[in-house]
Amino acid sequence: MRSILAAALLLTMGTADVVAQSSATFNIQLDQSSGNISSHMWGVFFEDINMGADGGIYAELVKNRSFEFDNPWMGWNKLEQSVEGTFLIVNDAKRKGNPRALKVFKPTDVKLGLQNEGFRGMGVRKGESYEFSLLYKQLKPGLRLRIELLDEENKVLGESTLALGNGAGWQNAAVKFTSSQTSAKAKLNVWFEGAGEAELDMLSLFPTETWKNRPKGLRKDMVQILADMKPGFIRFPGGCIVEGRDLANRFQWKKTVGPIEERELIINRWNTEFKHRLTPDYFQTFGLGFYEYFLLSEDIGAEPVPILNCGMACQFNTGEVVPLDELDTYIQDALDLIEFANGDVHTAWGKLRAEMGHPAPFNLKMLGVGNENWGPQYIERLAAFKKVLKDKHPEIEIIASSGTDPEGERFSFLDERLRDMKIDIIDEHYYRPPSWFLSGAARYDNYERNGSKIFAGEYASHTTRPNGPGRSTWEAALSEAAFLTGLERNADVVRMASYAPLFGHVDGWQWSPDLIWVDNLNVYGTPSYQVQKLYSLNKGTTIIPLKRNGQNATGQDSLYASSVYDETNKELIIKFINYNSTAVVADFKIDSKRKISGAATKITLANADLNIANSIEEPLQIKPRDEKVNYKGKSVKDTFAPYSFTVIKLPVK
Ligand code: AHR
Repeated sequence: MRSILAAALLLTMGTADVVAQSSATFNIQLDQSSGNISSHMWGVFFEDINMGADGGIYAELVKNRSFEFDNPWMGWNKLEQSVEGTFLIVNDAKRKGNPRALKVFKPTDVKLGLQNEGFRGMGVRKGESYEFSLLYKQLKPGLRLRIELLDEENKVLGESTLALGNGAGWQNAAVKFTSSQTSAKAKLNVWFEGAGEAELDMLSLFPTETWKNRPKGLRKDMVQILADMKPGFIRFPGGCIVEGRDLANRFQWKKTVGPIEERELIINRWNTEFKHRLTPDYFQTFGLGFYEYFLLSEDIGAEPVPILNCGMACQFNTGEVVPLDELDTYIQDALDLIEFANGDVHTAWGKLRAEMGHPAPFNLKMLGVGNENWGPQYIERLAAFKKVLKDKHPEIEIIASSGTDPEGERFSFLDERLRDMKIDIIDEHYYRPPSWFLSGAARYDNYERNGSKIFAGEYASHTTRPNGPGRSTWEAALSEAAFLTGLERNADVVRMASYAPLFGHVDGWQWSPDLIWVDNLNVYGTPSYQVQKLYSLNKGTTIIPLKRNGQNATGQDSLYASSVYDETNKELIIKFINYNSTAVVADFKIDSKRKISGAATKITLANADLNIANSIEEPLQIKPRDEKVNYKGKSVKDTFAPYSFTVIKLPVK
């Protein structure tokens, strides 16, 4: 059977490329586990970059719904000739977090309306239902709203009317309608009919079909592609946006919880970060705030891993630091976050969590202090956090950053200090070319086994940086797959790993490569996504030693391998990377008292062209191919395609 499959493989791939050039033997000591693998080893890194949250996973379709962008009219167009005084932006400082509102005055004989362009248009689907909602305050009752959804050619796809009630103060109104067509670039018209005067705010349009159909929720296709990976954790909210360009624009979790209309928006740091990718309409509305992050983590079975500002703004930008004697507010934010996540419903922050809909705790176990911060200023601030956190919450593991690079003076300084401080988990970042990933598969083989553990918190293989935006090619993904064998082999030290960034919107990105790309209607995983997913779905529970000639397989003859055992499914799982342009015969000899019996599952990602990538048009150029193979006894001998990543799962009795 196996030889038939191998022959079939040769035929489908074209014989010229795949005539086996060499062979290699590996030895697996199945009965001699060398350590445990964390149950949350492979996770995801979420940051609102590349329109990941606003304009992305947060399903709001209206841009600048509360007129709080720097330019209150950004995203909006006035329809028809508005008469002087028909639209006024009112700024009322008494309205917490959201002072601006739109005052509309409409005499009987004037045609008046507004159009919202959405985030690079609005993605709407035929037959799906959409809810338009707003807050309003009547000044002179008599206004009616007519809502129209239009495609790019101004064809009306759905419409409805909404009368505003006569109550006093700010009130809610909402109406649903269905779209008759699919469009990736729809827009919304709001016509004012009748005559009257009112203040309006939070003009909003959401699909009703969101993730778990939560009102004003998340895009379900984007959450689904995450859930499909079964990520062990979600790191949020970043990334550099934790730090902010300056301290005033740092991410403050307390401003992202409670009623949505009171969440004060700020400019997204990625709005201005790259001169060649300016994104003037990029703001953080925090509709996806810390409560929603915790909920998302829970929904998809991931540990929440929040990262908080340590009292320093991004050191690539202003690098502002808060004086040490004023750090208390920042430390208090950390304590309050733990209370928000885990506290009893009678505590102040636990009560808010319950009021928001989640009386049960979120079971927070880890907390990051600082993202890519460095220098003695970071260590001083971290020490202050650690003292208080360990005193009040010894159960929470602290994650601390070893800076921007995985080597060099800055890294060595931080790594040494963090280990002296007995930090629980050190967060390492590496954005490097494929050659770095290929030559680094042994990076953790000689790391200190005791003391601080490692979180590979952000990484990606960059094929073309710094001369251009990196593409998520098969070359990048395969080099990552090779490197990750080293993380898996050293999972007793490397407890967690996440690729970064997570999402990129094809019409609104600042940073590339990214793990998952979207437009307003579609989503696809890059080859790197396929690699991450295979690791995550086949993570195992214990590390199993795998050697070639007594050495770890870290790239000799461009071959990489690691193996794990999965106690739950009773499977030995081998991962093998053939980074050669020719096929290779590999023989994995298993030494064990136990029986290997039954057909193995073999999953292959392969392509002889390293430049190939997935895309919206061709989302599955690189995709896993599953087959069943019967190997003989304890020898897993097979032919592995050029440039391939293979996972073999063997049932163990
Ligand atoms: O992932 C993109 C950025 O890379 C993150 O915001 C930052 O932590 C790193 O420099």
